[in-house]
Amino acid sequence: KKDLYVLGIETSCDETAVSIVKNGREIISNVVASQIESHKRFGGVVPEIASRHHVEQLTIVLEEALKQADMGFKDLDAIAVTEGPGLVGALLIGVNAAKALAFAHGLPLVGVHHIAGHIYANQLISELKFPLLSLVVSGGHTELVYMKEHASFEVIGETLDDAAGEAYDKVARTLKLPYPGGPHIDRLAAEGTPSIDLPRAWLEPDSFNFSFSGLKSAVINTLHNAEQRGEVIEPKDLAASFQASVIDVLVTKTAAAAEKYGVNQVLLAGGVAANRGLRAALTETFSGLQDVELIIPPLSLCTDNAAMIAAAGSVFYEKGYRGSMRMNANPGLEL
Ligand code: KG4
Ligand code: ZN
Repeated sequence: KKDLYVLGIETSCDETAVSIVKNGREIISNVVASQIESHKRFGGVVPEIASRHHVEQLTIVLEEALKQADMGFKDLDAIAVTEGPGLVGALLIGVNAAKALAFAHGLPLVGVHHIAGHIYANQLISELKFPLLSLVVSGGHTELVYMKEHASFEVIGETLDDAAGEAYDKVARTLKLPYPGGPHIDRLAAEGTPSIDLPRAWLEPDSFNFSFSGLKSAVINTLHNAEQRGEVIEPKDLAASFQASVIDVLVTKTAAAAEKYGVNQVLLAGGVAANRGLRAALTETFSGLQDVELIIPPLSLCTDNAAMIAAAGSVFYEKGYRGSMRMNANPGLEL
């Protein structure tokens, strides 16, 4: 059987990324241009600036990805692109580029849900064995996704308010740390002790849903009250306490869902999957469970990239999914 080469394009937020993946498993090239420096001084991603950067960067990133792979369009089998969710203006740049390239080079076009991409980043590490459960934790999503087979996604739990990454970023802002705050809280937490009592939102018994806005408010109130009483709270201890609460809920619910659904694998996905505390806690929990294999992608495949889009796109391509020239950016796309 002939090898399958898919080029992936990702522009849903603040990373312009292009990658070529072989047979949905092997990274041939993977180029990411981050815009974080441009958004930092605003404390978050500015949509208009993001779109403009994507326009400026995409051609350069595309050429670099082809060059690193030493390939041309004639060597490709399909173009995969993030169709949604994300910032509409940012998504449009990738979708229109993908449509133009597919049309110009006579290649099939495959639309990919951004979260499906994050999940399929794991396929670049290990062969997927169904049924499996994926814990998706990013800046915009916190979900437990059950997959009984390829390209089948059942959301069995999700956040009712803030996403985990959003909570990290908001707490970081309260502690006057730079954007994006997740990595800074992670680093501080490693130095502190979780000595401050913060809530854990378990919700109804057996619920696989999450809630992080109460925790975020508790952190803000703790700081505020201490300030009023003239007490000093060590930021590292607050970071450690916040992180302990987030991880406790994420890991406990993931383990409970893995058991209830009898899965073969548990995958970690999304930007917050880069969190060292979360990686360590999941590793410890699942090391005791012999019939469940835990897969955690390396940091570079946890945050936004196009290799994950090409990996998911390869699976969808083989399933026969095809996008049309009417494909549009879909900021509210459902998994
Ligand atoms: O998946 P991603 O790159 O973009 C979205 O699709 O949202 O995730 C970005 C999120 C941000 O909220 C960022 O603060 C968080 O991932 N993040 C982390 C860490 N690295 C990135 N959160 C906690 N610990 C980290 N080490
Ligand atoms: Zn993402």
